[in-house]
Amino acid sequence: MNFKPTDEQSMIIKAFLARENMVVRAGAGAAKTTTCVMMANAALTRKGRFMAFNRAIVDAAALKMPANVKCSTFHGYFYGIVGRNYRHRSASVSARQSADILGIDSDLMTSDTDAHAPKLSAIQQVRSVYAAINKFSMSDDKEINGWHIPWIRGFTPEQMSVVRNELASFLTIAWRDISDVNGKLRFKPENYVKIGAMMSPRIAASFVMIDEAQDTFPVILGWLKRQYHTQMIVVGDPAQAINGWTGAIDSMDKFGAKFTEYTLSQSFRFGPAIATEANKLLSMLGDFRIKGFDAEESIVCNGEIEIPEYAEDETPDTHAILCRTNAGVIEAAIRESQNTGRKIAMPDAQVTEIRNIAKAAMQLMNGQACDYPDFAIFKDWSEVQEYVKNDPSGADIKTTVTIVDKYGAEALITLADSLVPVAMCDTLISTVHKTKGLEWDIVEIAFDFPEPKPTSDGERGEITKDELMLYYVAFTRAKYLLSRGGLAWIDDYVTDQADDTDE
Ligand SMILES: Nc1ncnc2c1ncn2[C@@H]1O[C@H](COP(=O)(O)OP(=O)(O)OP(=O)(O)O)[C@@H](O)[C@H]1O
Ligand SMILES: [Mg+2]
Repeated sequence: MNFKPTDEQSMIIKAFLARENMVVRAGAGAAKTTTCVMMANAALTRKGRFMAFNRAIVDAAALKMPANVKCSTFHGYFYGIVGRNYRHRSASVSARQSADILGIDSDLMTSDTDAHAPKLSAIQQVRSVYAAINKFSMSDDKEINGWHIPWIRGFTPEQMSVVRNELASFLTIAWRDISDVNGKLRFKPENYVKIGAMMSPRIAASFVMIDEAQDTFPVILGWLKRQYHTQMIVVGDPAQAINGWTGAIDSMDKFGAKFTEYTLSQSFRFGPAIATEANKLLSMLGDFRIKGFDAEESIVCNGEIEIPEYAEDETPDTHAILCRTNAGVIEAAIRESQNTGRKIAMPDAQVTEIRNIAKAAMQLMNGQACDYPDFAIFKDWSEVQEYVKNDPSGADIKTTVTIVDKYGAEALITLADSLVPVAMCDTLISTVHKTKGLEWDIVEIAFDFPEPKPTSDGERGEITKDELMLYYVAFTRAKYLLSRGGLAWIDDYVTDQADDTDE
């Protein structure tokens, strides 16, 4: 990678060398990550650190960064600081064991007088305690308290207030256990991130680059803002803030007035045809548009793509199929492995998820309890099926259950066993969420992106901002060929034909 810097990139490199703290805001493929590499190459005698949330982004950047820059995920960094002291701790402690450890042994009544007021069983209380631990771990708060307990569906403010008061002391006990290396409760990576961030370690580097800053957990933002000793470079694209549902926030404008703002206006990843598709989504999000790279040819189509056979001396095009859900990934992988001889990979976390789902389903089918969080409250598989069929709140696990019933748990294990490592694959199949910052020559959008339901008076439904950002990320992963597949319906929703911005 030896690009001649554009005028905008030159200006950013100059500001970097002048030790400015800066925020670089730019659209998809506009060389944000590449410009970080350019800056690092301009300061080879200084020690640097490049950080992002996703491992795939960090791994890809590490291949390009000079040796003076260490690349790590936030989790990787905090693992080195404190997480390794907790490596013997387990994430699979059942709700019942947790209730025993915490000393929760009776129902929690939300009213002394109203016999119909809801109550929380010991298991439900444990779920609320863990949910609060999770929320606290993502936050920049100093102490855990009842307000970290997420709202329970159907509860009134008064009932929630009782729950928050009654569980407050268990929260303190739980956090004390979790922080203790010899503790017994469920321990997750986000817990050591929180424990580490509360220690406010100083990053040992003369400059720190934060990529994908549009999706940052408050715990990380708070800690980064305390790094007064070093130069900070924060890059991101506010239109790619797709992790809001996990509690991440857009930190781009939260670093304060001492950070100078820069932009990169040219996207290099793709030509005008793909930029036009991205701009359709941006036109529904606001005023920002991206500019395609005239020197790149790009093609957009809607159907399934026949990938050609490549000759021995040809470099095959890289290929990804992007899905909306984990269930969509499984369906696409089964279809692809039955219909093509291509080597398929999925991001590690997705493979683990498939194995966990299959293992939990098998346990429940054998009448054993399981620890998979979505299924942990059920005693056998028929109870899961009943719940999904009859309870409206079962909608969120319905697709997973349908997939297990359709293909069988063993088929999921066979699928997971047949996958190759990401670096060796012909086709990567992933949810869009796990592909931020990455790119492929050919991107196919899978068919699990539902069009919004029409309103009650038959009008077109609205696409939420979160969904629009997700579709924008999906389209802009393509370098050369984009098949819009299950998102071709988007044309019906575009009111402002934004294509002219590519001129
Ligand atoms: N000056 C340049 N000239 C030509 N191509 C470039 C230039 N800078 C970067 N590229 C190429 O453009 C593509 C996109 O770059 P990069 O991944 O850095 O963009 P990004 O803004 O970080 O994208 P994302 O929003 O997806 O994170 C890469 O293939 C990169 O090699
Ligand atoms: Mg990037």
